[in-house]
Amino acid sequence: MTSVFPPPNNPILRQADDARNKVLIIGATGFIGRFIIQASLDSGLPTYILSRRPAFDGDDHPKAQAIKAFQDQGAIILHGSINDDQALLEKMLKENEIDIVISVVGGGNLLDQLTLIRAIKTAGTKIKRFLPSEFGHDVDRADPVEPGLRMYKEKRKVRRLTEELGIPYTYICCNSIASWPYYDNTHPSDVLPPLHHFQIYGDGNIKAYFVAGVDIGRLTIKAASDVRTVNKTVHFRPKCNFLSMNELASLWENKIGRTLPRVTVSENDLLAAAQENVIPQSIVAAFTHDIFIKGCQINFSVDEPHEVEISSLYPDETFRTMDECFDEFAAKIEDKCPIEASPVMKNVT
Ligand SMILES: NC(=O)c1ccc[n+]([C@@H]2O[C@H](COP(=O)([O-])OP(=O)(O)OC[C@H]3O[C@@H](n4cnc5c(N)ncnc54)[C@H](OP(=O)(O)O)[C@@H]3O)[C@@H](O)[C@H]2O)c1
Repeated sequence: MTSVFPPPNNPILRQADDARNKVLIIGATGFIGRFIIQASLDSGLPTYILSRRPAFDGDDHPKAQAIKAFQDQGAIILHGSINDDQALLEKMLKENEIDIVISVVGGGNLLDQLTLIRAIKTAGTKIKRFLPSEFGHDVDRADPVEPGLRMYKEKRKVRRLTEELGIPYTYICCNSIASWPYYDNTHPSDVLPPLHHFQIYGDGNIKAYFVAGVDIGRLTIKAASDVRTVNKTVHFRPKCNFLSMNELASLWENKIGRTLPRVTVSENDLLAAAQENVIPQSIVAAFTHDIFIKGCQINFSVDEPHEVEISSLYPDETFRTMDECFDEFAAKIEDKCPIEASPVMKNVT
């Protein structure tokens, strides 16, 4: 088995090599994973999925259907689990000559990545890049209250082992998913923004960065093969989507053509929701507190040598704006029930 590492300063060789990179995605059927796999398939890279699919009963399961749809688009399915032992994972990586491993496992599986990392190490120098399951904040900087902190401690452990074993890595810090940031919902972009009243955190003026799933997917795949992101943290800070809760609320009101009452959710309310320790809602409450009360996305600048902002890497790339995302949400309401005729809308005074 030959492994080709062209000199990074030769763009022609680099491009040719990138086109051959075999990408393994673990967690392709997940909330963030579905965007990563789609982007990888769209980019034409040979794309592999590690799937524990046989654990599901029957092909009617939505996840089985998702896997089938990816397979129809050319994805190669490897049956197995991130919980498999190191030797099995190593064999899978070697046999399929994987170049890039992207893990998008959920919060409950973060430490399962430790065995995978050891397998990447023992698989030899073939693996050019590992992207662990990050896709949020810079966990070495952010300091949420519990139970959010527990998740960050696990992500930090994954980072430290990757670095200790000398595995080339890229940490994707894509900030918030483009949607209304519900404080008790892990996947808010699957939910419509409010139609009855807004819950505004604190004074509603702390800003955050919102990034659409398709942009997270596309730019993650670009960054994964980019020599400029080796051993770097990549921050997503699209200027067009730098918004406060108050600004988001006004934008949504514009889309639905009416104003909604605004209810304040105070710092103490969020802390109390976090303290309830109901998983996963309390984890989200802890992150919401960190973002919209403490300003964890904006209280540092991206200027360390080991980090880079995505727009500086790809200045020609555009982002889906929150305006466009909210248009899409508004269209979903109209699909079900035209805004003018909606009972929710009729109740507006
Ligand atoms: N920035 C944001 O707003 C945001 C939002 C959400 C999540 N995140 C972050 O994104 C990352 C992914 O979270 P998520 O919510 O997308 O996860 P998720 O929806 O819970 O999906 C988890 C994925 O892992 C797979 N998986 C679970 N156990 C596995 C095993 N033993 N072997 C192989 N695959 C397994 C699942 O596959 P099955 O099909 O087998 O279940 C599923 O595809 C996390 O680090 C999370 O913190 C960020």
